[in-house]
This record gives sequence, C-alpha cells and structure tokens, in this order.
Amino acid sequence: MTDHPLFETRGLGVTYPGRGRREAPVHALREVDLSWTGGEVLGLVGASGSGKSTLGRTLTGLREPSHGTVLFGGEELTGRRDRTFRRQVQMVFQDPYQSLNPRRTVGSQVMEGLDIHGLGASEEERVTLAVTAMERCGLAPAERYWHRYPHELSGGQRQRVVIAAAVVLGPRALICDEPVSALDVSVRSQVLGLLAELRRTEGISLLFITHDVGLAWALCDRVAVLHQGSVAEYGATEQVLGSPRHPYTRELLAAAPVPPVRR
Ligand SMILES: Nc1ncnc2c1ncn2[C@@H]1O[C@H](COP(=O)(O)OP(=O)(O)OP(=O)(O)O)[C@@H](O)[C@H]1O
Ligand SMILES: [Mg+2]
Repeated sequence: MTDHPLFETRGLGVTYPGRGRREAPVHALREVDLSWTGGEVLGLVGASGSGKSTLGRTLTGLREPSHGTVLFGGEELTGRRDRTFRRQVQMVFQDPYQSLNPRRTVGSQVMEGLDIHGLGASEEERVTLAVTAMERCGLAPAERYWHRYPHELSGGQRQRVVIAAAVVLGPRALICDEPVSALDVSVRSQVLGLLAELRRTEGISLLFITHDVGLAWALCDRVAVLHQGSVAEYGATEQVLGSPRHPYTRELLAAAPVPPVRR
C-alpha cells in the first residue's frame, strides 16, 4: 500500500442534477486528476462554489462520482465504503455542531466510534483510549469535559471534541473542510496548531480545505487550486502560491485580505 498515493482521483466528475425542469445540472467537479501522497498536508483552495467541499465529500464516500474514479491506497473505491476505510478516513467540518449530538455528553461521543468499530477490548480500555485522545487534543484533564454537553463548551473546544472523536480511531487521514472558519480568530491558530501537530506526531495525513490562501500557505506542503470544478494548478505550496502560473491563482492571492506569509 505504501507505493501508492493515499488518494488518487482520475477524471473525477461530480454533477448535481438540477431541481425541476428549469434548473440546469451543476457540474461541481470536472476531470479532476489529483494525487495525494500520504503523510503530507494537502491544501485545497478556491473561491466559494469552486467544488472544494464536493471533492472532500467524494473522497470520503459521502458522495459518489458521476464520472471517473477515486482510489485509496491504489484500490478503486466503489459503492459503500468498508469499515476499515470508514475508520481510516475521518472528516472534520466547519461547524462542530454538524458532527456532534447536542443530547449526548462529550465522553460518550468520543467513545462512540470505538463501539461502532469494535475497538478496545473492554469498556475500561475504551474509556482510557477516549481519555487519551481527548487530552491529546487539548481537552485536559479529560474528566473536566467528559460529562459536559456540546453547548457547555466553547467553539474551539467543540472542534477539539470532533477532532478527538476522529483521532481516537487511529485514522490515516483527516479531511478538514474549513475547520477553523467558524471559530473566533483567537482560537483559530490553536486548532490549526493541533492539526499540524497531529500530522507531525501521529503521521495523520491532512486534506485542508480552505478559501483562505494565507492559511494554506502557512500549513500545507502542497496545494491544489480549484477553479469552477477543475484543478487550475497543483504542486508544492512554494511553487503554486509563491510563483503562481495560473491567472486564477494570482487573482486569489491578490484578493487575500492579508498578503500570505510562509511560516
Ligand atoms: N447538494 C447539492 N445540490 C446541488 N448543487 C450543489 C450541492 N452541493 C453543492 N452544489 C453546487 O456545486 C458547486 C460546488 O459546491 P461546493 O460546496 O463543493 O463548493 P465549495 O468550493 O465548497 O464552496 P464554499 O467555499 O462556499 O464552501 C456549487 O455551484 C454548489 O452550488
Ligand atoms: Mg465548501
């Protein structure tokens, strides 16, 4: 499996059917060929509506391709993703409320995936795994948060719970769709720091979807620029954002609120 990229798309297209007879279908992705090597942070940037979320959702299997294929570790993914895949590839959305159940405590939600995937030999071991994941994600000591409900946490803490619920499963990849866009500026860099650290220490590959080229520049090893459903440019961050070749990439950089700086 190591010889193959983590994910690869070949001629990937996604078309949303128009509603009713008057609405034309939307070609959200067209002929996308991408190769995402494991262990790195791949940024997916582009304007609103360029197809970023559609691509993220298609990789995780939340949406099926209309054309082309998605490969994971060299194997074509078709139909319902198997359990191993669903454990290895986790998603983090912009709004943590989307992923959390408002009526269940933090601890039980971090534990839930372990039950679903049959991980941990006993209840005690599952609690230990959940506590470790929570503390790994900055919710320490875990007992302070364990019995709380999502509404009793800050936005940053809620996103940490979502990340802990993913990390506890030992994933290979996290697909993060605007993971800090809904957070207060003051906690953004902390959550970004956590994601970068998870890549470094646990070797989790990150797909970082953002409309913010500055963030992509700071965090990503490689960047793919999506423009109207197609890949305009793809390569090392320094190259794509440092000396952009595509006019659309230059436009994106010019429109960035603060000139991006490489950290
Ligand atoms: N479920 C859907 N049904 C119909 N059209 C959709 C659906 N989801 C997305 N689209 C359309 O597909 C295109 C790509 O949408 P997508 O959400 O992937 O863009 P995005 O780059 O993530 O945008 P944003 O930065 O605003 O999140 C848009 O034109 C959008 O309106
Ligand atoms: Mg989106």
